[in-house]
Amino acid sequence: MSDNSDSDFDIRKSLSLLFATPLVVHDWPESEQLNKELADLIVRKEKSDNRGYGTRSNAGGWQSSGNLIQWPETCIQTLKSRIETIVFKMIGELVRKDGTARTFTLLIDSWANINRQGDYNVVHTHPNCMWSGVYYVQPGKPDKTIPYSGLLEILDPREAANYIQIRNTVLDGREFVENVPGRMLLWPSWLKHWVHPFAGEGERISIAYNVNVIEN
Ligand SMILES: [Fe+2]
Repeated sequence: MSDNSDSDFDIRKSLSLLFATPLVVHDWPESEQLNKELADLIVRKEKSDNRGYGTRSNAGGWQSSGNLIQWPETCIQTLKSRIETIVFKMIGELVRKDGTARTFTLLIDSWANINRQGDYNVVHTHPNCMWSGVYYVQPGKPDKTIPYSGLLEILDPREAANYIQIRNTVLDGREFVENVPGRMLLWPSWLKHWVHPFAGEGERISIAYNVNVIEN
């Protein structure tokens, strides 16, 4: 690089990360009791309806019907409140601050997932909605010697993003998220993601959700 004084400027003033992909990863505190109630409820539901919804993105495993958010149990209503909170907070952060008072109504679909040994979720998006996410109830006991066991992987949606081959930049095309109990994620529904095969014991339990947003 030249040592010409023309090169002495702050690139941060000239750089914008255009067309951002928002991703929220929030760890709700004090979730142990809630997660226990959710896990017990979801396992009971599976026993009473072992066909569940059938196949969505899952290869193996069990997925409940999509009306989970209407289940009457208190733990489900707490989860609903958490989803609403995180979506409203994110929208509040993303809207341009022009002084206009704006209010929104949320339409939520949600379903439970149980993955056991060998179960996974293929690469997919969530069509016909705006925002999607997941809440982690329990991780099971993944075999830590098996790479990526039960991990969520989020993929850069831009088909040509891997043209940039400089390693370890903020432009990396793959993002992995650990399924920590009490952790809630939120992303645009068009964002491709998948779940690596679960290798281990027990049940990996999560709750997925879709949200459509209507401006009042
Ligand atoms: Fe998904």
